[in-house]
Amino acid sequence: MILAPSLLAANFMNLSKDCQTLKDHGIQWLHYDVMDGYFVPNHSFGVDILKQIKQNFDFVYDVHLMVSNPRLFIEYFSKVADVLTIHIEACEDVHEAIELINIIHTHGIKAGICIKPNTSVSAIEPLLSLVDLVLVMSVEPGFGGQPFMVEMLEKVRLLKDLKEKQGYQFMIQIDGGVNKENSEQSRLAGAENIVVGSYLFKDLASRISEFQ
Ligand code: DX5
Ligand code: ZN
Repeated sequence: MILAPSLLAANFMNLSKDCQTLKDHGIQWLHYDVMDGYFVPNHSFGVDILKQIKQNFDFVYDVHLMVSNPRLFIEYFSKVADVLTIHIEACEDVHEAIELINIIHTHGIKAGICIKPNTSVSAIEPLLSLVDLVLVMSVEPGFGGQPFMVEMLEKVRLLKDLKEKQGYQFMIQIDGGVNKENSEQSRLAGAENIVVGSYLFKDLASRISEFQ
């Protein structure tokens, strides 16, 4: 299972030190939350911070776009992200989602689709053969430090089942409120990639090893 630390929970006064600690402990993925203040009632980072981090650290940059105009942000982030994930709820319809996934792929990077807690897997079923990653939100997006919604594991199980039956290639990722205990439940349900924010960064070095 891949551990993708969420930079949102890092110590912003010491980003470089936190990134170095992640590298020193063999972390390969870095989850980078982008918020526009409209799709979610919060702001996080723009593209320039990611560009600077990328100049200094080699990670798989996993960019989670919580924005109401994903088309615009795909333009900004497609040159720096390795995986670019959009929300189905931010797309006009499934046709627009397909178009945006194709645009992401034309940049030679991986494309993900994300569902909020109130969105069911059926809303993204037509996309499952196209995407490289499906992100199941286990909190309402927008803020770190919220409690894990255990009922979201049902969606993970369903995705795993669909993946096995249909031979889909996407990776199943879960994001929000993940800690050591529920990461194990998530893995058993079928999650292959866990995003961990506040739990991990509370005591970075020792908590990374809990997951290894
Ligand atoms: C929430 C973000 C998450 C967040 C996770 O909207 O998408 O990536 O940073 O943080 P925790 O693990 O604290 O819920
Ligand atoms: Zn996220």
